[in-house]
Amino acid sequence: MNFTPKRIKDYDLEIDDNLDKFLRIADVSTRGTEIIPEYNLIIWLLLEKTFKQYNDLSSKGIACPEEDQVDSKKSYQASKEDKTGRQECSKAELTLAKEYAEQILKHFGIKVPFDKLTQSEKDNLFQQFSASSKLLLPDGLNGKASTIDLCEALRKHSKYREEFRVNSLIGKGSFGEVFAAELRKKEPQVFEECYSIFAIKRMPELSLDKTADIRMILNESSILKKLSGHPGIVKFYDSWLALDSASDTAQAYPGSPNDSFIFYLQMELCGVTLHQWKTKLTDKKEKPEEAHCIMILKQITEALQWIHDNNVLHLDLNPKNIFWKDDRFQSIKIGDFGLAVEGKSLKNRRGTPPYCAPEDTMTEKSDMYSVGVSLFEIAEAIITRLELASRLEKWDLSTGMPALDLTIPKLLDKNPERRPKAAEILATLTSLI
Ligand SMILES: Nc1ncnc2c1ncn2[C@@H]1O[C@H](COP(=O)(O)OP(=O)(O)O)[C@@H](O)[C@H]1O
Ligand SMILES: [Mg+2]
Repeated sequence: MNFTPKRIKDYDLEIDDNLDKFLRIADVSTRGTEIIPEYNLIIWLLLEKTFKQYNDLSSKGIACPEEDQVDSKKSYQASKEDKTGRQECSKAELTLAKEYAEQILKHFGIKVPFDKLTQSEKDNLFQQFSASSKLLLPDGLNGKASTIDLCEALRKHSKYREEFRVNSLIGKGSFGEVFAAELRKKEPQVFEECYSIFAIKRMPELSLDKTADIRMILNESSILKKLSGHPGIVKFYDSWLALDSASDTAQAYPGSPNDSFIFYLQMELCGVTLHQWKTKLTDKKEKPEEAHCIMILKQITEALQWIHDNNVLHLDLNPKNIFWKDDRFQSIKIGDFGLAVEGKSLKNRRGTPPYCAPEDTMTEKSDMYSVGVSLFEIAEAIITRLELASRLEKWDLSTGMPALDLTIPKLLDKNPERRPKAAEILATLTSLI
């Protein structure tokens, strides 16, 4: 289980990168009440590394946290800002890392500092970490292996590569790429709906270096998991973090660095987005029928009511994040919870212009505004965002469809107080259908 300097070098766990990564992950991980299991193994690797570095610096007389009983978070930030030298920064980072490590150990009921643990205590702890980790543990490892073995095994084994056959790239977003992938092992009985083809969103390591990105990625999968189950929400199947090497997806990612942590989100595969559907109509110089627009609005608001009732705000509703599951008009699904938040309000404006509501504090009414813009775009089969923004600006909202001409201006009311809630829209639609 011991890291030797050579092995550390082998695994390229360099101080700057990894300590920083540890701090960011541990910061997120210790913020809530529960340790995030997906991160346990990374935390473990970095825990070992942190203490080794800490001891190295201590032995050189550099790091001495007991002297700095000041706020270590502040001194870490300060040393990052005014680069008073790498040594100072390491000292502050290590002090903070040690504090996080202590918190993590406390969570596992361990009161002894990490570096004072005996080897068997460490082995025990490692087993707990790996047992509760959702990272794929290759057969035969099951918590018995050393950190190094585990790293090697994880590098060789990849749930993504081994369990799925990647069919095609189906979408690109700001946070990664989405692939259609088929289960290699034909065990459809595992999934209640017998689907063996999925959409897998792959978010590469790059994003994990930023605390905000880590939070966003975890947020997306936990919110999707929580809301999954409603027919109007893209179904969640699994999410996992993996150690991947370039060879894993060399074709898709020729430049991806070796041994990066990659986040995977396995979801139900949908058909086209509302955006793609609308574009097809526009190409044929057609507009959708009013009855279809009303069905779309009804399904979006039903799903949105479920989202809001579950204390979530989507905050990025637009036709690219709403899907048709298949070619039936009953199969609308809301996806992409990358910007979603739990709670009733958010004191920052968030979303994609021009779908984003004008107010500074986002609430469920802000989602309703985005529904209004999306519906208007679809009903009018508007091609560009520029044209869409200009029509909104001019308040040129007529679609020639009576029910929509009544509803869209209400949804686009600049005053969120006056904008209807999902339930109110549903109540008016019931009389129309
Ligand atoms: N479950 C899915 N089924 C089918 N296509 C999908 C699915 N999820 C995403 N996509 C495709 O990938 C694109 C990007 O995915 P999305 O989750 O919106 O990522 P981002 O947060 O980066 O915008 C979507 O616009 C869509 O084309
Ligand atoms: Mg998206």
